[in-house]
Amino acid sequence: MPVPILIKNARCVSSLGIIQQDVLLEDGKISKLGIINEKYAEHIVDASLLYLLPGALDPHVHFRDPGLFWKEDLRTGSRAAAAGGVTGFFDMPNTKPSTISFEAMAQRKKIASKQSIVNYNFFIGATNTNLDVLNDVENVPGIKIFMGSSTGDLLVDDVNDLDHIFANGSRLIAVHAEDDDIINAAKEIYKNSKDFNDHQFTRPPEAALKATTLAVELAIKYQRRLHILHMTTKDEVRYLEMQKSKAPISAEVCPQHMLLSAPFIYEKLGAYAQINPPIRDMIHGEALWNGLVSGVIDCIATDHAPHTHAEKAKSFGEAPSGMPGVETSLPLMLDRANRGMCKLEDVVKWMCEKPVELYHVKNKGHILEGYDADLVLIDMGEQKTIENGKLYTKVNWSPFDSWTTNGWPVITIVNGHIVFQEGDIDETVMGQEINIRS
Ligand code: DOR
Ligand code: ZN
Repeated sequence: MPVPILIKNARCVSSLGIIQQDVLLEDGKISKLGIINEKYAEHIVDASLLYLLPGALDPHVHFRDPGLFWKEDLRTGSRAAAAGGVTGFFDMPNTKPSTISFEAMAQRKKIASKQSIVNYNFFIGATNTNLDVLNDVENVPGIKIFMGSSTGDLLVDDVNDLDHIFANGSRLIAVHAEDDDIINAAKEIYKNSKDFNDHQFTRPPEAALKATTLAVELAIKYQRRLHILHMTTKDEVRYLEMQKSKAPISAEVCPQHMLLSAPFIYEKLGAYAQINPPIRDMIHGEALWNGLVSGVIDCIATDHAPHTHAEKAKSFGEAPSGMPGVETSLPLMLDRANRGMCKLEDVVKWMCEKPVELYHVKNKGHILEGYDADLVLIDMGEQKTIENGKLYTKVNWSPFDSWTTNGWPVITIVNGHIVFQEGDIDETVMGQEINIRS
């Protein structure tokens, strides 16, 4: 059991506003809010100059465990999360073996219970033949469908197979929405290219829009819960704006798709800028930001998908797609709040409250009595530079290398334990499986 912690005078942030108060943490829960006598706690944190946020929930990461441990594992991925103020994550099924069976899911949860220092859960991956697993596996945030090929070999691209999955069951379906035929035709055109800037054209906006349209149509047909992963185009934002009210549909966006843009990022980073779906020109990035601000896009995820320097050193066509992000997403958004582009309350909505709401997570995402003590203390005045070689992710690089930002986590608390404090990580803290309401 963690020792009671009293956080004094914290400016507690929710989407509705900011209240300065004391927060008492006992037995892994937020036990009391208000003016609290210091005699109640062994450990006191003076937070008069800090903001207290519910811990961020990153609903889209690839921590590579099991099977791809040279890129990341659940210990290193969760350390990076803790450093970034992320107290929980949902991890994707393109591991080795793929997370597509009862056994693979049980194995992942077992590894996480021993290795993850923040809270966790895992998507079950869809194939054309595992409908029973998709519907019967217990306590998962949702079903992941790759509608277009990406890293790994998971793919369900046939309309009838997709229809069958949407028609049977009620669990949330999260889609990587890119049309495989359009991708394959475009790849053929660019097969001799050596230019990383062409990556965006091998996976054009039409591929994203076509797959998103199909997924939305199926969600409307069967009134199925649908989540569109990593949106990248202005066209999808506009389409979703029109369709969203017709079914329980939600969407996420990643910081890299809003903040980085073609062609500059490909010229600067080459293979390191490569991600699926791709980073596109600024018009799309701006539409994504506007979609988030207007509420068409619900939440922020990172798609933290690390690959090593050696893998990224390969040529165009050979280098894998994906980039890390779990430890930089909250700081990047805090920086935006500092610059007046949004409010701190919005950041809490997009990174803490909405993921919890969309995925039906129990007891998290708010600073309320009885809720889990997953919290992050923020110093909005702290300035730091994101630097390759000084990160917690195993691959130790970031597409935001050399960006100086204002507003950083100083203490991260998981289940009432301080897991990260000003650069130090306590690896004795163990995360727990995140409970999902069925
Ligand atoms: O760029 C990507 N990388 N997109 C994906 O869909 C998968 C991911 C990975 O696992 O590397
Ligand atoms: Zn992903």
